[in-house]
This record gives sequence, C-alpha cells and structure tokens, in this order.
Amino acid sequence: MRQKKHMKKSTLSSIAIIAAIFITSCNNQTTTTTEKMETKAGITKSVWGTTDGKEVFLYTLTNAKGVQVKISNYGATVTSWVSPDKNDKPSGVVLGFDSLSGYLAKPPYFGAVVGRYGNRIAKGKFKIDTAQYTLATNNLPNALHGGLKGFDKQVWDATPASDSTASLELSYLSKDGEEGYPGNLKVAVRYTLTDDNELKIEYNATTDKATVLNLTNHSYFNLTGDISNSILDHTLMIDADNYTPVDTTLIPTGEIKSVKGTPFDFTKAKKIGLEIGAVSGGYDHNFVLNKKDSSLSKIVELKDSISGRTLEVFTTQPGVQFYTGNFLDGTISTSAGKKINQHAAMCLETQHFPDSPNQPKFPTTLLLPGQQFHSVTVYKLSVK
Ligand code: GLA
Repeated sequence: MRQKKHMKKSTLSSIAIIAAIFITSCNNQTTTTTEKMETKAGITKSVWGTTDGKEVFLYTLTNAKGVQVKISNYGATVTSWVSPDKNDKPSGVVLGFDSLSGYLAKPPYFGAVVGRYGNRIAKGKFKIDTAQYTLATNNLPNALHGGLKGFDKQVWDATPASDSTASLELSYLSKDGEEGYPGNLKVAVRYTLTDDNELKIEYNATTDKATVLNLTNHSYFNLTGDISNSILDHTLMIDADNYTPVDTTLIPTGEIKSVKGTPFDFTKAKKIGLEIGAVSGGYDHNFVLNKKDSSLSKIVELKDSISGRTLEVFTTQPGVQFYTGNFLDGTISTSAGKKINQHAAMCLETQHFPDSPNQPKFPTTLLLPGQQFHSVTVYKLSVK
C-alpha cells in the first residue's frame, strides 16, 4: 500500500518523454525521424473573451502522456479532449468549439456542467414541504437542465492547481431564487486529468435553504475522433437491469422497468445501432444503475473499433442518462465547418433520475442546509 502511494506520487511529478515521429517528404522519398519531446504535466491558461462583463478563460490540462483536456470557465465546459488512437494518432473525442462564440450561440449543452437540476422537471413545478416552486418551462411543457440561464451559461470562478497536477477547480454561487430555485447554492466542480487518461469530475455543493440538486456533465462523445462516423457503430455496455420509461414529453412515468428482452438491454455489450430503430426518437433515457450504494463504481464501457478506443465511466451517482444525440440535426457545425448530424455524438450523463422532485419513489435530490453534497464521476480513455 505504502509503495503504491509512493509510486503514484513519483509518476505524477515526473516529466514524460514522448516519442514523436516526423515524416518529411522529399522527391518521392519519405524519411522518418524519431525525436524526443518533453511533456510537462500541468495546466495553462489563456484569455478567451468576455460575456456578462466577466472574463472568460480557456484552461489546458496536460497529463504526463501529453493527453490534453481543455476547459472553459464559461459553463465549466469541457471544450476538447485530445488523445491518441490505436495508431498513436491524436484526435478529439468530445464535441466542442475553438472559440467562445460557439458557446454563446447556445449549443445543446456541449461539454457543460448542467444544473441546478440536470434533465427535466415536469411542467417546471415541484414542492418542498408545503412551498410550491415554479421554474421556466424551457422545454415545453417541462423545465430542462436548469432553465433559461442554467449553470452551463454562467461564468464560473476558476482556480488552477498551483503544482504540476492537471487540475482545475471551478465555483459558482447560484443565488436564492435564480431560475426559480430556492436557496443560495454554493457549487464547486473540480476536474482532474490523471496520467491514466482519466478525467475525474468531483462535485460539491451546500445550500442555505432546502433545495433540489442534480448536477452532471453534458459531454458528447464520438470515440472515432471524426464526427463523420456515427456513434451507432460504437459498442456499449451499461450495468443497469432497469431503466425509467418516459411519456411523450420525456418525463418518467414513475415505473422502474426491467430492460430484459427490450432494446434497453445493454447489460451485455452490443452495438448502439442494433435496436435503436425500435426506440421512438432514439435513446434518451435514464438507466437505473445496478450499484447498490454511493461508492465509485464502473457503470459503462463504450468501445469503438475504428480508433481502438475504450471509454469507461465510473460514478457515485444512481443513474445515467444515455442520449444518442437525437436532436442534433446538422444545423450546428464544428469550428472546422463540419455539420453535426443526428447521432454524430452521444452523452452518458451521470445523474439522479429526471423529475425526482415529483417522484417520491426515486432516490431523493433534496439538499438541506447543513448537508454537504458530494459526487464523483470518472471518464477513462484507453486504447487497444
Ligand atoms: C439531455 C436530454 C435530451 C436533450 C439533451 C440536450 O440529454 O435528456 O432530451 O434535451 O439533453 O439537447
């Protein structure tokens, strides 16, 4: 145990030597030179613009292997995650833009932290004891992802790690009554990129009045590194024997239903596209994870044979919203000008169940004064 701890420390502080291959072409002759480049793990900051009279920055987290994740304090958003494929060729695995303007145009939550309440609350109404609260119905007839100006559209305060750790802490004070939610909520999100190519997300929050809370990250993944390839050929395993069926407005009916014999059965890995045709609109459902407690457990394995990449997801949360980018329709383009079509990318939003404030049988999303909310999700990339 002691030895393990020591090893971790020394890996973190080490500077990895990465072999880079440069190919130069001359008179039809190709020469290959191998050069050594040094990658220093850590974090850098650049100015990205302003909005709401506040400065927006872009932080680049680099691990000892040279893998990079970029995060903006606008929406606490992951804007890019570049890692090597099976041929050591680096490419991006999440949807995002190169500039702030892409985000100010309100894309559907690309890479953002979603809150105060991730996913839907029926008709934008809920009660805590006898107090009735009303939210904007920004996804008619329901409230979605924190309202008109949720956490994804706020400028957060950011504090980068002061040592060589690739880690960034973002914080935001959501005032009492903001978007209709009760209580001053202090929320902090820490992103850490480890040398094992894990993006670890830790969420903490406290309130001064009883409120509801459901925080998640809304990254859209395409493991091939090229959104011309649909995610329907990715292979997915979700460790969930049950899911929460929804009505036509995507509000859970309240039933916890077995996935057995349905297109929702991902307990054994299968291609996402295999049975999607039998799911009206595509997958956009909360899966009830088999894990029985709030320990950090592996819940998802996503694989792509083109790149050889695997994404594993670990969480302390009880649910995951598996969303196949059904509403992406080509109207938004990447910074490189490529249309983002339906099923170009997919989300695995770790969470409490949608509409929990109105569903007494679902795990509670109530946060009381004096309580400390804490949750952790880890996305881990590897190649074979
Ligand atoms: C979530 C929802 C979807 C959709 C997307 C954003 O995943 O469940 O219905 O609203 O966010 O477009």
